Amino acid sequence: MFSKEIYSRRRTSLIRKVGNGVILLLGNSEAPCNYQSNTYKFRQDSSFLYFTGLASPDLALVMDAESGEQILFGNNADIDDIIWMGPQPTINDFAQSCGIEKALPFADLEIYVKAILSQGRRLHFLPPYRNHNKILLNALTSIPIPALKENSSLELVKAVVDLRLVKEECEIAEIEKACEIGYAMHYTVMKMAKPGVTEQTLYGIMEGIAHSQGAMTSFPTILSQNGETLHNHSHHQVLTEGRMMVIDAGAENEMNYCSDFTRTLPSGGRFTEQQKDIYRIVSTANNMGQSLSRPGVSYKDVHLNVCRLITRGLMNLGIMKGDADEAVANGAHALFMPHGLGHNMGLDVHDMEDLGEDYVGYDNQYTRSQQFGLSSLRMGKMLRAGNVVTVEPGIYFIPALIDKWKAEKTNCDFINFAELEKYRDFGGIRLEDDILITPSGCRRLGSKRLPITPEDVEEAMREN
Ligand code: GLY
Ligand code: MN
Repeated sequence: MFSKEIYSRRRTSLIRKVGNGVILLLGNSEAPCNYQSNTYKFRQDSSFLYFTGLASPDLALVMDAESGEQILFGNNADIDDIIWMGPQPTINDFAQSCGIEKALPFADLEIYVKAILSQGRRLHFLPPYRNHNKILLNALTSIPIPALKENSSLELVKAVVDLRLVKEECEIAEIEKACEIGYAMHYTVMKMAKPGVTEQTLYGIMEGIAHSQGAMTSFPTILSQNGETLHNHSHHQVLTEGRMMVIDAGAENEMNYCSDFTRTLPSGGRFTEQQKDIYRIVSTANNMGQSLSRPGVSYKDVHLNVCRLITRGLMNLGIMKGDADEAVANGAHALFMPHGLGHNMGLDVHDMEDLGEDYVGYDNQYTRSQQFGLSSLRMGKMLRAGNVVTVEPGIYFIPALIDKWKAEKTNCDFINFAELEKYRDFGGIRLEDDILITPSGCRRLGSKRLPITPEDVEEAMREN
């Protein structure tokens, strides 16, 4: 963990921002996989981690925003726990390690919260996403489980987002480490991707690298020759000459900071000319996304500029037609790029998505569009120095979506459906890098950029 002064300072800032009532932050509990004691790998709640650095289960923190009192709730290990898990820090040890002066048994949390509520004081809690914490919050507050989200504290959400969205130097250093692991994951399988190898083998190698060098992957790895399916989690195919494979994967390092990279590889080591034509549009779009990203520019504008570039590229190939600006204004490009250019990243790969995407990526000035495609943009607001975002343009040929638009004549003034038939089995391409917004622009995170030009990708796949 970072030094306790860092966590104390963050809590002081949070208390100041919220300003009234009592803040309750719940840590996560172990989650059973197939029976009670066979659990998934433990993952602490990211906001709890941000304010305490404590990565152990069954902890809760309250902060009285008026008196300033802070209490950590949790239980000391008993002799049975010690027999099975070894000696454990006491709850006082945990509290002291992150600069909290008072610690109490977990059972006292209910007494504490009920006292606060009976005094008519405001209890601020974040929207819960784990069922265990929903049940706990229901027991503590008597708010019905379906109503917990609407009763969560918008002031607290906004205060947490405000702090976590601008990364500190120590956090950027951790994200860089996650990027190094992500680089190793991708670069290793880039060299192993050959016809006859299974997707599952490459998937397993990537998982192994993430686990051996850090905590785990930052999300379930997407690795598929059916790259037209945006989040494809099946890896059962054999690599076949002539196809391409989208690999979208990242690592969580030991401090739970994330990376998220995507590369698209030719399964046989060489792109076809048709693949190169589309690939170059996406790689140019990726570079453009990075060159436009800077403080004072909205990510929605960066996204739209990238969409216009993609549209012009597809028009040059005869797949789209008409005026590019008009096509993008009508959302015609979303047939090929139905997702957003990127998202914030930090302790979560989609940072703070649990708190509500619109509070993370939008504000009063920039509101989320309802238009297909643009509505999937997770980050739309003004970029600020210290933001960490992904840049991940893509072009996909999704047969079901093509057929739907063709049948319904959607955006038919801008789509050349006859030409599009030649790309029906093309698959998809996505290219993703992670950037830090700096005072004057942005810089890529990670000491080395994964090969991205078609030539460099082919060369990296050839070496070995
Ligand atoms: N890399 C997966 C995603 O951004 O959704
Ligand atoms: Mn991503």
